[in-house]
Amino acid sequence: MENTLEKICAEALKEIEIAKNSESLKAVSVKYLGRKGIITQLLRSISSLPLKERPKAGEKANEIKRILEKAIKDASHRLESVAIESDDFIDVSLPGRSACPGSLHPVTQIMRQICDIFTRMGFDIAEGPEVESDYYNFEALNIPKYHPARDMQDTFYVSDNVVLRTHTSPIQVRVMEKCKPPVKIIAPGKVYRSDSDITHTPMFHQVEGLMVGENISFGDLKGILTNFVHLLFDDKTSLRFRPSFFPFTEPSAEVDILCVMCRGKGCRICSHTGWLEVLGSGMVHPAVFENVGYDTSQITGFAFGMGVERITMLKFGIDDIRKFFENDYRFLRQF
Ligand code: DAH
Repeated sequence: MENTLEKICAEALKEIEIAKNSESLKAVSVKYLGRKGIITQLLRSISSLPLKERPKAGEKANEIKRILEKAIKDASHRLESVAIESDDFIDVSLPGRSACPGSLHPVTQIMRQICDIFTRMGFDIAEGPEVESDYYNFEALNIPKYHPARDMQDTFYVSDNVVLRTHTSPIQVRVMEKCKPPVKIIAPGKVYRSDSDITHTPMFHQVEGLMVGENISFGDLKGILTNFVHLLFDDKTSLRFRPSFFPFTEPSAEVDILCVMCRGKGCRICSHTGWLEVLGSGMVHPAVFENVGYDTSQITGFAFGMGVERITMLKFGIDDIRKFFENDYRFLRQF
């Protein structure tokens, strides 16, 4: 009896070892340990043995049963981990990975808001090239060669007479060359200056505005810009027009808005002045009209220009312009 048991045990262990998957392992288990299994039947037959052989045979049979049970359990763990490591294993109990939808860049969002506000006021959108001639970027805008105003705009030169546009103002000239007055456009786009610190990047965005026709006055400029600021921020954000200088406008004014952080009390953002500078503006200089062949005795007009990053920083309370261009997902996902 003992010899038979040993033999059966050895055979069973071999079958367990070569089982390729949990089904064949289960079959081995049933074959030996199932209700009608070989070991189970042997255990039952012990009662028919002579009385003195029974304890030893019983002991041996139970020992082999335990050995096989353990071997089956180990093999089952082994097969399970092989299945998990293989490519076609799908663990349906794992939580799903949610999709990560993209969103518009904060500068794009504000750019669109600005364009929306002006198009609702009847402005058309005009575009122009980012690589621009010296003529459109400077000359036609009344900024002759060696004019000190060129220093205000550290220029990237492509060649002697070709630059990366330093502002979107050349678009006003391009539009006026093509269209008779009245003209009412805004020109959004990328501009380039050789400048980099926490408030300047070599590329940034501007929106230029131009309204030309009969009897266009500084009052119209104030009205349009006041309406714009009230719609972009809120109608408690008052404006201040400060005399300034731009070669392409006369008179010129810089526009400040009441500090959106402290509401005029004075804080770090507004350098304790209560006001924030947001755009440049003025009445189009007669020299610019002459350059495009407009009759300065018939028409007048105003123009303005603003930096979109600066406005976006104020809208969202961002303190470093470089964050817009670092592509840090932790920053971008907040918008
Ligand atoms: N082009 C100016 C700049 O880049 C902004 C500007 C100021 C545009 C006054 C205008 C204006 O049209 O009238 O700094």
